[in-house]
Amino acid sequence: MNIGIVGTGMIIQNAGKAIKAQPGLSIAAIVSRPHSKERARALAEQFEIPKIYTDYKAFLEDPQVEAVYIGIINSEHYSYAKRAILSGKHVIAEKPFTARLEEARELAGLAQDHQVLLLEAIHFRYHPWLKAAEEGLGEIGRIRLVECSYSKISSRYQEYKKGNVLPVFDPALGGGALYDIGVYCVHFADAVLGERYGIPKVQYEANRGFNGVDTSGVLLLKYPDTLAVCTCGKDSDGVCQASVQGEEGNLVVDGFPRPRKVILRRHGEAETVLWENDRRDENPLEKEFEAFASLLAENNRKQAEIQMEKSLRVMAVLDAAYYGNTGSM
Ligand SMILES: NC(=O)c1ccc[n+]([C@@H]2O[C@H](COP(=O)([O-])OP(=O)(O)OC[C@H]3O[C@@H](n4cnc5c(N)ncnc54)[C@H](OP(=O)(O)O)[C@@H]3O)[C@@H](O)[C@H]2O)c1
Repeated sequence: MNIGIVGTGMIIQNAGKAIKAQPGLSIAAIVSRPHSKERARALAEQFEIPKIYTDYKAFLEDPQVEAVYIGIINSEHYSYAKRAILSGKHVIAEKPFTARLEEARELAGLAQDHQVLLLEAIHFRYHPWLKAAEEGLGEIGRIRLVECSYSKISSRYQEYKKGNVLPVFDPALGGGALYDIGVYCVHFADAVLGERYGIPKVQYEANRGFNGVDTSGVLLLKYPDTLAVCTCGKDSDGVCQASVQGEEGNLVVDGFPRPRKVILRRHGEAETVLWENDRRDENPLEKEFEAFASLLAENNRKQAEIQMEKSLRVMAVLDAAYYGNTGSM
């Protein structure tokens, strides 16, 4: 299947390598805005991409572009994905899936109507460590608490402190700690509890910068029978870890969301390592593109829709936390 890449920013390095690593995928074209054509040209050379476009319409009209990877700023995922779906292309769009819940719902409906696959590029949802952790959940009894922490100082934070607001620190462009990085924690809480309980009630408290953006924050998720706490920061160096506490033991994801180990501890028993990373140099996007390639090869819309349900629950949480909407709670 031939993929077209949208974007020329930082993530395209990993995305380009991950796509190239899939035997079932090749890159047919890249599109940038006109002022970024030189960056597109450099990426085309690096990844041996045969065509460069600076016009999205022309890119979508190219029959060799069968699926589209959207790797641009968060607020633009929706409009670019919508136009791609309406052109009959399969779509994988970066996290956070969209800026608003309504946009996500509309895209999901359009993908069904137009019979194309639509996925959020959220890498660990497709990674074996999550499967190992999910299997371990059955060993710890009734789950009472989930904690998930992911903070790291953004490479754009120094610029922000100087007053130069790049998109990841601009709430109007879908930036901020919750959308940009907390989304991983919300996906983890959803992986543990979402299937059983649906969308939780939410409360978000944030440290805010001079433009009102959340530079870090704490999100409380109240599921009917269980609580989850997500902490995320782009202004601080945190401990990156997730844990699930049950009545009969706990499960720890050491190094979330790219763990070193997933550890199970049952009361009175020696700990068990459920999964261990033996590839520290792994490209984090590899597994999601592997999953996308296999869904495309099988035209497995049903499985893509199952994944989309998860993304919609996560978007409902983000939207409610940031904008105070009640979503579909
Ligand atoms: N999965 C992961 O591990 C991971 C990691 C990092 C980022 N991401 C996601 O990847 C996406 C891009 O992040 P990044 O770090 O690569 O950002 P970046 O380096 O700032 O690049 C931003 C990209 O968005 C484009 N853009 C900006 N404004 C636009 C507009 N109004 N319309 C269309 N395109 C526009 C830029 O194009 P111009 O050059 O034309 O301005 C550029 O190609 C984000 O959604 C982010 O959340 C994912």
